[in-house]
Amino acid sequence: MEVDEAIRSRRTHKVFGPDPVAPELLDELFELARWAPNHHLTNPWRFRVLGPQSLAALKLAAGPDAARKLDRAPTLVVVSQVRSEDEVQDEEDLCATACAAYVVLLAAHDRGLAGYWRTPGVLRTAAGLEACGVGEDERFVGLLHLGTIRQPAKPKDRAPVQSFSTYLA
Ligand SMILES: Cc1cc2nc3c(=O)[nH]c(=O)nc-3n(C[C@H](O)[C@H](O)[C@H](O)COP(=O)(O)O)c2cc1C
Repeated sequence: MEVDEAIRSRRTHKVFGPDPVAPELLDELFELARWAPNHHLTNPWRFRVLGPQSLAALKLAAGPDAARKLDRAPTLVVVSQVRSEDEVQDEEDLCATACAAYVVLLAAHDRGLAGYWRTPGVLRTAAGLEACGVGEDERFVGLLHLGTIRQPAKPKDRAPVQSFSTYLA
């Protein structure tokens, strides 16, 4: 798929088939993620693929209502950023980690997978972070949902280019 087409056609999917994404395929996505722009090459991103035990612990931390939503996708990847004590580096590392997460979603889409970047409340709690092994020196960035496509996602309108871009004199 051409880059332009991949960027335009990637969409958030919330309905997935039951088959998990193979570790070999996930490794391909993570290998691409490490090429995200990253000032000083600090490699601030961490990707943790949930297994049955960590998912069960996360669901417990979420409570029964929120836990149901964690069953949407067969493969869940917790993305976090290792915090920096330097304020500027910390901000830049957060941006780099978001870029890396997007690389994963875009590369998954290119491989015909469905993806969804979610930020559930449970991963803003100590119990939720602990369930996923996210250290106190890390910041939660996203819970990527990955799997096979069950139904096509609807395209959403985007703001016109002129509404957010300007050429300065
Ligand atoms: C940082 C971030 C957090 C997000 N958190 C959520 C979320 O918690 N729940 C949700 O439904 N979508 C979440 N999304 C997905 C956006 O809602 C989605 O990207 C947006 O609606 C545009 O749709 P698209 O991905 O199909 O282009 C998040 C996206 C980003 C970048």
